[in-house]
Amino acid sequence: MKTLDQIKQTMRRDRVFDFMVSTGTHPVHRGEIDTSHGPILYVENINVSFDGFKALNDLTLYIDDGELRCIIGPNGAGKTTMMDVLTGKTRPDSGTAYFGQSMDLTRMTEHEIASSGIGRKFQKPTIFPEHTVFENLELAMNMDKGVWASLQFKLTGEQKTRIEEVMQTINLVQQCHTAAGRLSHGQKQWLEIGMLITQEPRLLLVDEPVAGMTHQEIEHTAELLTGLAGKHSVVVVEHDMDFIRSIAKKVTVLHEGHVLAEGDMDTIQNDPRVIEVYLGE
Ligand SMILES: Nc1ncnc2c1ncn2[C@@H]1O[C@H](COP(=O)(O)OP(=O)(O)OP(=O)(O)O)[C@@H](O)[C@H]1O
Ligand SMILES: [Mg+2]
Repeated sequence: MKTLDQIKQTMRRDRVFDFMVSTGTHPVHRGEIDTSHGPILYVENINVSFDGFKALNDLTLYIDDGELRCIIGPNGAGKTTMMDVLTGKTRPDSGTAYFGQSMDLTRMTEHEIASSGIGRKFQKPTIFPEHTVFENLELAMNMDKGVWASLQFKLTGEQKTRIEEVMQTINLVQQCHTAAGRLSHGQKQWLEIGMLITQEPRLLLVDEPVAGMTHQEIEHTAELLTGLAGKHSVVVVEHDMDFIRSIAKKVTVLHEGHVLAEGDMDTIQNDPRVIEVYLGE
């Protein structure tokens, strides 16, 4: 196993920085997220235009604390754009997006949003391929101490236990000492989710998590995400309807940048408007 010194030497500065931006692992203190009214996320009347084209059109939706929400809808419906707005990557033309009662995400930087407790999983995992599963989780866990200070860390017993718990959650205990670059496509996705979890985000945004996965990997991912709900709020965007059916509680259907329908899977599947624009394809 590589020593931490070796890790430090082989880690590229920009790569570490990318990871820190995507996970919020820079040293900004987290405020309390006030969820006393139920929702953790209030998206209200959001509009986003690209050259006159309305990618989000008066989008309003609420996510409850601890909820697992599925978001579906045709290509171009605005699902990814919505995540871009929530993470500060895209500024809306108008509207608000509150995280808890008091944090308006539309006025925060990407850094501030990530460090306030919103983690986003990208399709291309931001893992460190040359390091083991354990090391990846270790680095993710310790980066909140600041970029270079984090590389001087020594794990406490408590942190080791926590990493072991995360490895169990993401089903990678056997791969503890495997280099991340050698994992299967699905395992890499789980590792990235694990790296996000070590940051203990309150809200996790996951865009098309099962694309390219085997049937068995999809089943594990369903278990993983449903297991995370409760402790975290989880928003999942996905086109794979078998997967959505296997995890769905409440489903929101986006169409042309707007909420077309919302409800449980039965209601959604039988909604003629949803069948017309999406499920009937
Ligand atoms: N940066 C951008 N510049 C111009 N147009 C954009 C930009 N980002 C998104 N769009 C457009 O906005 C619309 C919504 O795109 P978005 O990626 O949010 O859809 P989506 O629901 O995620 O679709 P998919 O299911 O295909 O991922 C599309 O028509 C897309 O081409
Ligand atoms: Mg998309």
